[in-house]
Amino acid sequence: MSCLFWYPGHELLVEDIVRAEGCSVWDARGKRYVDLESGVWCASIGHGNPRVLRAISEQGAQIAHAGFNYSCAIVEEAAREVLSLLGFDGGRCVLLCSGSEAVEYGVRVARMSIDRSLLLTMADSYFGAYGSASRRDASEWFLFDWFPCAECARTEECDSSCERWAAVPWDRIGGFLFEPGSSSGLVRFPPERLIRSIAHAVEESGGLFLANEVTTGIGRTGKWFGFQHYGVHPDIVAVGKGIGNGYPVSAAAFARGIGKRLAGREVKYAQSHQNDPLGAAVLIEVVRVIREEGLIERSMEISSALAGGLDKIRERTGRIREIRARGLMVGIEIDDDPDNSRTIRTHRELVRRGFLVGKRPNTNVLRLDPPLTISRAEIDSFLAAFEKALG
Ligand SMILES: Cc1ncc(COP(=O)(O)O)c(C=O)c1O
Repeated sequence: MSCLFWYPGHELLVEDIVRAEGCSVWDARGKRYVDLESGVWCASIGHGNPRVLRAISEQGAQIAHAGFNYSCAIVEEAAREVLSLLGFDGGRCVLLCSGSEAVEYGVRVARMSIDRSLLLTMADSYFGAYGSASRRDASEWFLFDWFPCAECARTEECDSSCERWAAVPWDRIGGFLFEPGSSSGLVRFPPERLIRSIAHAVEESGGLFLANEVTTGIGRTGKWFGFQHYGVHPDIVAVGKGIGNGYPVSAAAFARGIGKRLAGREVKYAQSHQNDPLGAAVLIEVVRVIREEGLIERSMEISSALAGGLDKIRERTGRIREIRARGLMVGIEIDDDPDNSRTIRTHRELVRRGFLVGKRPNTNVLRLDPPLTISRAEIDSFLAAFEKALG
C-alpha cells in the first residue's frame, strides 16, 4: 500500500526500481530493463552519466543553492551556454526547475511584451502541469486544429483564401506558442508550410514566436532544437527535461529584442530554486557531453537503424498502423481496437521482457525516446522483443 499520489491514468508496471546506469535500470530483484523512454524523456545522455555525476558532486561541494541577493558565475555561464546554443546574442535566460515552469515563464514574459490578448497554439499541444498554458482559457488562447492541414496539397504560404486560416482572429493574436512535435503521447509533427506561415503572420503583426522545446530540444529530434526543422526563428524558447538528464533544471531563454520590449520592467516571478548553481552545473555538463561526444550526430545513425527495423516489423506483422519519427522521438501507432487492448498487451509484454517504452493512457501509441547514448545492440534487442510482444 503506497502513501503516494500516483500519476493519473498510468499503470504501475515495475515495482521498486533501485538503480540505473546508461540505458538500463534494475529493480530490487535484480531484473534489468532497457529504458527506451529515458524516464519521462529526461535522461538524454543516459542515467548516472559519470561526467554529470562528477559535476553534481563538485558543484554540490562548493555551493548548491544561493539566494535572491547573490550571484554565481556558474549560473551566468549556464545562461550564456543556452543563449549561445540558440544564437540569442545579447539575450536573457533564467534557470528554473521544470518544463512547465519554463513554458509558464516564457508565456508571462510574452504577455508583458504584447498588447493583444490571444496566443495561438496547436490544439493537441502539451505545455505542462500548471499555468495559463495548461488552462487554455479561450480569453487567452486560440487553439488551432492543424490535423486537416496535414492533408493539404497547397504549396504556397497559407492565407485567408483558406477558410481554416480565415477563421483565426489574427487581429487579436499577439504570439504563437509552438511545440515542434506534439508530445501529448502521440508524436505528431505539424507541417512546415503551416508553421512558417503562422510564424510569418505573427512576425508581420509585431507578435512573438515562442518555442516549447521541453521535449523536442537538446538533440531529441536529431537537431539541437525541434524548431530547426522548420526554418523559423523563435523569440522565446523553453527547454527542460533532457537539459538536466534527470536532474530538475530547465531554462527559459529570450532573444535580445525581448529585453527592449520589457523596457526595464521586472518579470514578477521568483521561486526558491531559480538560478541555482547546482542546476547550472548540470546543464553546462549535459550540453558539453552532447557536443563533445557528438551525440546528436550519433543519434541520427541509431535513429535510422531503429526506423528501418520498425518498418520491417510493420511489413512482417501488419500490426502497426503508422510509425512517426524524428531523430530519437518515435511514436508507433498500433493497429488496434477502440479499447487499445493490443497496445496494452504489447506494452505489458515488453516490460515483462525487460524493455521500458512509453504509453499514454487511452491511446494506441507506444512511445520511444531513448537516451541519445543508446547502443545499436540495445536497439536490436528491443526490435526483436517488440516483434515478439506484438505477436
Ligand atoms: C512538450 C512539453 N512541454 C512541457 C512539459 C512539462 O514539463 P515538466 O513535466 O518538466 O513540467 C512537458 C512534459 O511532459 C512536455 O512534454
